[in-house]
Amino acid sequence: MDDGKKKERWQRIEAQLAGLMARTADPIARMATVAALLYHKLDYFFWCGFYRLVDGELLVGPYQGPLACAKLEKSKGVCWAGINGKESIVVPDVHKFPGHIACDSRSQSEIVVPVFNKEKKIVGVLDVDSDKLDTFSATDQEYLERIVALIFS
Ligand code: SME
Repeated sequence: MDDGKKKERWQRIEAQLAGLMARTADPIARMATVAALLYHKLDYFFWCGFYRLVDGELLVGPYQGPLACAKLEKSKGVCWAGINGKESIVVPDVHKFPGHIACDSRSQSEIVVPVFNKEKKIVGVLDVDSDKLDTFSATDQEYLERIVALIFS
């Protein structure tokens, strides 16, 4: 898909999600809505969901796609790197990411976007996996960051 088309599609999805977020302020209900909408609208999303920081552990939250790891080993893999670095991480080839945790061996590339609450404290990450290499572009990163910001808006 060319980047112009991709941007248009992301703009429509962002607008739809902004409307849906108005239905409730509950962050878990919002995360579930985001995961379902993104997974069903974007055919290159193989797995899409949240990991939440709960008492120092990273536990799976609302998601769509194949069964995922319930708990991620402390400070290992891409999601923990997103928590510790507090920045988005785009991984074009998961096999080249040291410590990558393969919940499903079909995952080939990945993007992780940190989730901050209203106090700007990190509370988890949005994680998206693709079953193809080099899937996620700067446009995907930009819109996923905008969408994640809606959860505690
Ligand atoms: N690959 C992630 C683990 C979560 S799954 O991709 C759903 C990681 O390395 O943290």
